[in-house]
Amino acid sequence: MNRVSNFRLSRNIGIDLGTATVLVYVQGKGIVLEEPSVVAIDTDTDRILSVGKRAQQMLGRTPGNIVAVRPLRDGVISQYEVTLKMIQYFIEKACGRMFFPPRVTICIPSGITEVEERAVVDAAREAGAQKTYLIEEPMAAAIGAGLDIYAPNGNMVVDIGGGTTDIAVLSLGGVVVSESIKIAGDRFDEAIMRYVRRKYNVLIGERTAEGIKKRIGAVYDHPEEQSVQVKGRCMTQGLPKVITISSKEMIEALAEPITAILDAICLVIERTPPELLGDILRNGIVMTGGGSLLYGFDQLVTKVTGIQTRVAKDAVSCVAIGTGKFLDHLDMLQEGSINLSKARKERL
Ligand SMILES: Nc1ncnc2c1ncn2[C@@H]1O[C@H](COP(=O)(O)OP(=O)(O)OP(=O)(O)O)[C@@H](O)[C@H]1O
Ligand SMILES: [Mg+2]
Repeated sequence: MNRVSNFRLSRNIGIDLGTATVLVYVQGKGIVLEEPSVVAIDTDTDRILSVGKRAQQMLGRTPGNIVAVRPLRDGVISQYEVTLKMIQYFIEKACGRMFFPPRVTICIPSGITEVEERAVVDAAREAGAQKTYLIEEPMAAAIGAGLDIYAPNGNMVVDIGGGTTDIAVLSLGGVVVSESIKIAGDRFDEAIMRYVRRKYNVLIGERTAEGIKKRIGAVYDHPEEQSVQVKGRCMTQGLPKVITISSKEMIEALAEPITAILDAICLVIERTPPELLGDILRNGIVMTGGGSLLYGFDQLVTKVTGIQTRVAKDAVSCVAIGTGKFLDHLDMLQEGSINLSKARKERL
């Protein structure tokens, strides 16, 4: 009996198809998989060599005939076939081989075009999904952060991922105002690489830059300044060089992409109807996604907007958790419902 019900439950899965990380949520079980969205391909044979964690270790370290790619850079499917294989691999790894193909809900950035939406749905279908539903990232993030998005009450969510920052004001189960910009974690890494090159004349790779960001990345003054040693290549001598970089320098290095995100947040606030703005002033802004973990991001947003801001608990898994909770409502929706807001409009 138990096995039968488990079997049934596991037919609905939610995928947070992130540019940096893919998380898979199986109904009744929770998050069962969290791996980098990286695929290693043998270019001689076009064969996929590995996906996820193992492929990530190859990034920037591959011999001529192997490339390790991130097929979802910038939040959209830039390499369709590779994305398809990646989805297939993750579905199989998360669920094993299933007798009934699963119903799959996939989380997409809110700025995605219809053509890109179609590509996601097609990829999921080809990867073995029986039915595919799409949910917008800020909506999933808000549900995952525990906000009551169905109430007649405005909530504002800022999800800063690897490829995109999605900002949305939600009320009555719908997105009222939103903005999606392609400035997020990847741009932070690039900004750090540029800063180190300009200031120290040292070249560092993307993964090193990401490592620095995760350890001492900051957008606001740290009460105790932190620093890390970084190994790179001196651009004049071409030899390895070790430099020490501090959290204070991070604020300077990250200024450009952070300002762009703050501008986008302010733009959404300006476009928010006054009643909902009143609600948001009361409820505060909630930040989710890996990028929101930079030290002091919530304090900076509070300072710039005058609205109390907090980083959600489980900021990185919020979207997957929200996508998972959404699975409980699939029976009420039509396949391909592009987002909860439209789906609700159809029902009302
Ligand atoms: N502690 C941390 N401090 C700063 N940045 C972090 C931290 N942990 C993770 N990140 C960054 O967060 C980003 C990944 O976040 P997340 O998993 O939310 O993105 P994603 O969902 O894959 O991307 P997207 O939503 O744009 O498709 C990466 O750029 C990663 O470097
Ligand atoms: Mg995301």
